[in-house]
Amino acid sequence: MERIAVYPGSFDPITMGHIDVIERSLGFVDRVVVAVTNHSRKNSLFTIEERVALIRTIYDKSKRVEVDRFNGLLVNYMKKKRINIILRGLRAVSDFEYEFQMLLANRKLDSRIETVFLMPGEEFFFISSSIVKEIASLKGDVSMFVPEVVAEALKKKFKY
Ligand code: PNS
Repeated sequence: MERIAVYPGSFDPITMGHIDVIERSLGFVDRVVVAVTNHSRKNSLFTIEERVALIRTIYDKSKRVEVDRFNGLLVNYMKKKRINIILRGLRAVSDFEYEFQMLLANRKLDSRIETVFLMPGEEFFFISSSIVKEIASLKGDVSMFVPEVVAEALKKKFKY
C-alpha cells in the first residue's frame, strides 16, 4: 500500500524551507499532497490560485508531489482523500505552541490522524513566508530564500 502524507499550509508563498520539508518527507513516504488553504487569521499576498500555480510550476515533473487546495477543516479534506498523515515543519521553539495546539485539535477531531514534524536544515531555520514577504516588500533580494519562479512573482507583486 502506498504511504501518502498531506502537507497543509497557506504557502504564501512557498519557500526553500517548505521545499526542504517536502524533500525530507520523500525519504519515508511514497507521495506528498501539498494542500493549500486560506488561513482564517492571515491576509494573503497571493491568491490561492496563484499559490497553487507557483507550487505546481515547481513540482511540474514530480510524480511524487501532488498539489491541491482545500476549504474548511483539514480533517474533512483528509477523510475525503483517505490520508491520515499530516506533515508539518518545525523550526524554532516559537513554532511549538501553535503546532502543538493544531496537533491536539486535529487529533481530537479525528483520532486516526498522526502529525509528523520535520526539522528543516539549519540553513532554512529562519526562513518564513512572512520574512520573505517583508524583505520583498522592501525590494530586497529574496533569491536565496525562495525558488526562482517565486522570486519573480514577488518582484511583480512589489513592482521592482
Ligand atoms: O502555513 P500555516 O498558515 O501555518 O498553515 C496552517 C494550516 C493551514 C495548516 C491550518 O490553519 C489549518 O489546518 N487550517 C485548516 C482549518 C482547520 O482544519 N483548522 C483546525 C486545525 S487547527
